[in-house]
Amino acid sequence: MSWRRRIVEDGYQRLLRPLLFRSHGGDPEKVHEDMIATLGVLAAAPGARDAMRALTRVPAEPVEVAGIRFPGRVGLAAGMDKDGRAALAWQHLGFAFAELGTVTAQAQPGNPKPRVFRAQASRGLVNRMGFNNHGALALANRLAVAGIFRGNGAAGIPLGISIGKTKVVPVQDAVGDYLTSFDHVHPHADYVAVNVSSPNTPGLRTLQDGGAMASLLGALTARAAQLSPADPVPVFVKIAPDLTWPQIDEVLAAASDHGVAGVIATNTTLSREGLAAVDAPLAYEDGGLSGAPLTVRAREVVGYVASHTDLPVMGVGGIMTAGDARAMLDAGARLLQLYTGFIYAGPALVGAINEEVR
Ligand code: FNR
Repeated sequence: MSWRRRIVEDGYQRLLRPLLFRSHGGDPEKVHEDMIATLGVLAAAPGARDAMRALTRVPAEPVEVAGIRFPGRVGLAAGMDKDGRAALAWQHLGFAFAELGTVTAQAQPGNPKPRVFRAQASRGLVNRMGFNNHGALALANRLAVAGIFRGNGAAGIPLGISIGKTKVVPVQDAVGDYLTSFDHVHPHADYVAVNVSSPNTPGLRTLQDGGAMASLLGALTARAAQLSPADPVPVFVKIAPDLTWPQIDEVLAAASDHGVAGVIATNTTLSREGLAAVDAPLAYEDGGLSGAPLTVRAREVVGYVASHTDLPVMGVGGIMTAGDARAMLDAGARLLQLYTGFIYAGPALVGAINEEVR
């Protein structure tokens, strides 16, 4: 391990993480907001930017997926930077791409707080954020101001944008709601991720059912082709780890039938298996569980998807170590995304994975 990575790893795990986990009275959401705001500021300061880059940079091998050239395999998962406030920062932390959002057609506050809980002994998180965001248009405007448009590389790395359903819109009207978000974000997105797998919007996961999935994906890919006939923006679909194999088959059939570019597997789980005894009370909190308790199931789902379709898969869920990343790639993932592993291991995890992959 290089001295730089050791500094970043030890500095985060021994100094910064304990401070962060205790600050704001231990409120994970406030810490998160501070982190995103700070990263947004740092990304705009050339000295800080260069320092971040120098400390975290580990060469990675580029890979092309769905016609997009990714400078490496490790990306940031959706939900970390919902409103794109730190869109310019992720490249400097070593990420090869970032998935912004999930945004919805209408701005909305999300669920009542508290709505994120650390399962520290289990290296997990339980969240029921409920798509708190300022809306698809606000994200599009922010990216436009930053000069970030599809394919122009202004964020330094490809950016995906995740779209979801506005809570107050009934599930039967979901297609129009997704299309509104799509229309706003598509000029800024290297790919669009269709989130039908969050457990925190009532009814959302029913959109993964065959008929509903086909209508939604069909409408979005048709819109993509209509808006850029020569080069439609790739549409990915993100699935839940709690689907059965026949349910996954239905999603894959709909995805293949409608020219979807790839699958993102997985979102958080409703299962509470794998929680350490001290974290057991979190089993009674509503929401989705992420992190180490999800590692094995997410990998299984990635393996299933990769062996039942030719569509490329982004593997996400419980990648806490470089070994987990390797196993996810071995299961068939072409690209990887991190959320909870980044919270527990810090930015050194990205470099460690790049080193492992090489
Ligand atoms: C998420 N995740 C998520 N996913 C998504 O598609 N849209 C979103 O808005 C969010 N929001 C969100 C908030 C919080 C607090 C967490 C912890 C997670 C799910 C995330 O992208 C990922 O799929 C899962 O967390 C599994 O990966 P990890 O965390 O185990 O690496």
